[in-house]
Amino acid sequence: MSASSLNILVVQGTIREGRYSIHPARYVTDRFRERGHAVDLFDMKHYDIPLFTNRRDAVSDPHPDVDTFGRQVEAADALVIVAPEYNHSIPGTLKNLLDHLYPEYEDTAFSYVTVSAGGFGGVRALSHLHDITLEFNAHPGPDLPVSNVRDAFDEDGTLIDETYEDRFEEFIEAVVEHAEQFAPSTVGISPEAGR
Ligand SMILES: Cc1cc2nc3c(=O)[nH]c(=O)nc-3n(C[C@H](O)[C@H](O)[C@H](O)COP(=O)(O)O)c2cc1C
Repeated sequence: MSASSLNILVVQGTIREGRYSIHPARYVTDRFRERGHAVDLFDMKHYDIPLFTNRRDAVSDPHPDVDTFGRQVEAADALVIVAPEYNHSIPGTLKNLLDHLYPEYEDTAFSYVTVSAGGFGGVRALSHLHDITLEFNAHPGPDLPVSNVRDAFDEDGTLIDETYEDRFEEFIEAVVEHAEQFAPSTVGISPEAGR
């Protein structure tokens, strides 16, 4: 059981109509909240993220939605990226969003849920996410590739493949453990503290 409450930002990686990856994004958001963490889901569908022309830190008047994302990233102890694999990589919309920031990511703990309709769980997107995160001087952490996502969740977002329940639990635990190593508010706190 976690010893502390973290600020967690879940980032949904696609705005495709009928996207299935929104279901694991909402699922992990709910599980973090149940455990007492402060969690937000950043869903690009509710924002108007412009095509990248310059980084937020390089302009005096960043686009308000980019600024919102930047402030949420700065406040977060952990970012959980939920992304489908498109053409052996991450969606262009997600890459565009991520490119708007840079210093905001430094020393942040990253984790990943990748998704595919087939049997590979988006592992090529996962590999690219690892590479991108390393460029951010951040801390790549746990991952959960979700294969056959259309069998794992129904259209309403209910998890119907019970084999994923334990896998999501283990992922959530691993994300918290990973983030606690780097979160300023929790550094030095361990379950043994105070004994
Ligand atoms: C533009 C596009 C490219 C895709 N490319 C891949 C791919 O390279 N590998 C793969 O396993 N699935 C691929 N898929 C299928 C996705 O796995 C499938 O759409 C799945 O439901 C993922 O996410 P989404 O529903 O959230 O969009 C692609 C789907 C789209 C729309």
